[in-house]
Amino acid sequence: MNRISIKYKGPLRGEITTPPDKSISHRAIMFSSLAEGQSIVRNFLQAEDPLRTLEAFKQMGIQIEHRTQNTEHRLADNEIIIHGKGLNGLSAPQDIIDCGNSGTTMRLLCGVLAGQPFSTALTGDSSLRSRPMKRVITPLTEMGAVIESENGFPPLRIKGGKLTPISYKSPVASAQVKSAIMLAGLYCEGVTTVIEPGKSRDHTERMLKACGVDISLNDLEVSVRGVASLKPMEITVPGDLSSAAFFIVAGLLVPGSEILIRNTGINPTRSGLIDVLNLMGARIKLENERLVSGEPVADLYVKHSQLKGIDIGGDLILRAIDEFPVLCVAAAKAEGTTRITGAKELRVKESDRIASMATELRKMDVKIEELEDGLIIEGREDLKPAAAVSYGDHRIAMSMLIAGLTASGETTVEDTDCVNTSFPGFMDMLKGLGA
Ligand code: S3P
Repeated sequence: MNRISIKYKGPLRGEITTPPDKSISHRAIMFSSLAEGQSIVRNFLQAEDPLRTLEAFKQMGIQIEHRTQNTEHRLADNEIIIHGKGLNGLSAPQDIIDCGNSGTTMRLLCGVLAGQPFSTALTGDSSLRSRPMKRVITPLTEMGAVIESENGFPPLRIKGGKLTPISYKSPVASAQVKSAIMLAGLYCEGVTTVIEPGKSRDHTERMLKACGVDISLNDLEVSVRGVASLKPMEITVPGDLSSAAFFIVAGLLVPGSEILIRNTGINPTRSGLIDVLNLMGARIKLENERLVSGEPVADLYVKHSQLKGIDIGGDLILRAIDEFPVLCVAAAKAEGTTRITGAKELRVKESDRIASMATELRKMDVKIEELEDGLIIEGREDLKPAAAVSYGDHRIAMSMLIAGLTASGETTVEDTDCVNTSFPGFMDMLKGLGA
């Protein structure tokens, strides 16, 4: 447990480099472990969540070297070397695998473990143990895995085996569900298809293609053909828009601010935040657009802006799903009303993010109506400083710190250790800009 106090000191100015993408870091470790031979992952996110994935594969016998200094092989800072043993090279872990706070570790691992000839137990912290797993249990069971759970919640025990391909119409648009099924599909003879109600992030598709897997895409449908092996890779992880989000919103809200946020992923399945903020009147300029290891990246130039409230729904929800806590802060400071609907998934994230943000922003005198699937937020000029809590949710902690930065006095946020799940160094970066 940790507490941070924050207050406005002046404009935020300067340049930062966005920390590495969490979703891509998880996948880089997983797919390289399953590939045949040595892979190199550069700019890996050394945060608690992706380190859970890394430890899980070590527990299953994969040799992973974590180089934090230059060596005689001239490897740069934070490069990871993974000695992949092939799709069938994992060994049964001696102990239960602890996925910590990480839903991506648990749900994607389910897909891999469904194809193994051994049985594995998975658990997590209290937040993860309250997150729904039926969404992966149902399709993986249909493919032939045997999965025991606590009524659809972790801990899980997965007995893998021979799998058969399925064509699965997922009731929820979720990259974790889609990826779990695609990973299990690698172990099948023939083609496995997932049809989603909306297009979730596509990092798995991009990276598996780079590993030589036959993937076909058709609007909301993705198909994967089972393979004998994956090619090892050399990948540089781009910056995470979900982490940059806190600095984008801070730069827009704190008067006089101007920030250059370098190396930020702008994959179109993830870039809803930029579109929403632009609709709200933000001054965000994309510069130096390029591809980094098959993922679109840009430098973002952000200037303080007067935002206005808007209605947010449809595909913008999915394309900005992890950014809603900080978008609520932007809405709280915007002129007029912001209505967020169709965002029921926010209730089953690391915390119930609809309830968490409504409760915490109300402490700052913001008028908020909670809907079953969203929020109605009345913007106001001044936020009242408050004693906020994080619910152990990294994105709530960071959002409330940004809210505190824009309030008229000192705000405290309790229980901020959770920031380390995705963004160690968050406070140092904020201080570096003058906060
Ligand atoms: C993620 C997918 C999303 C997202 C999560 C990371 C991933 O979850 O919210 O933070 O890496 O695949 P869902 O698949 O539950 O939508």
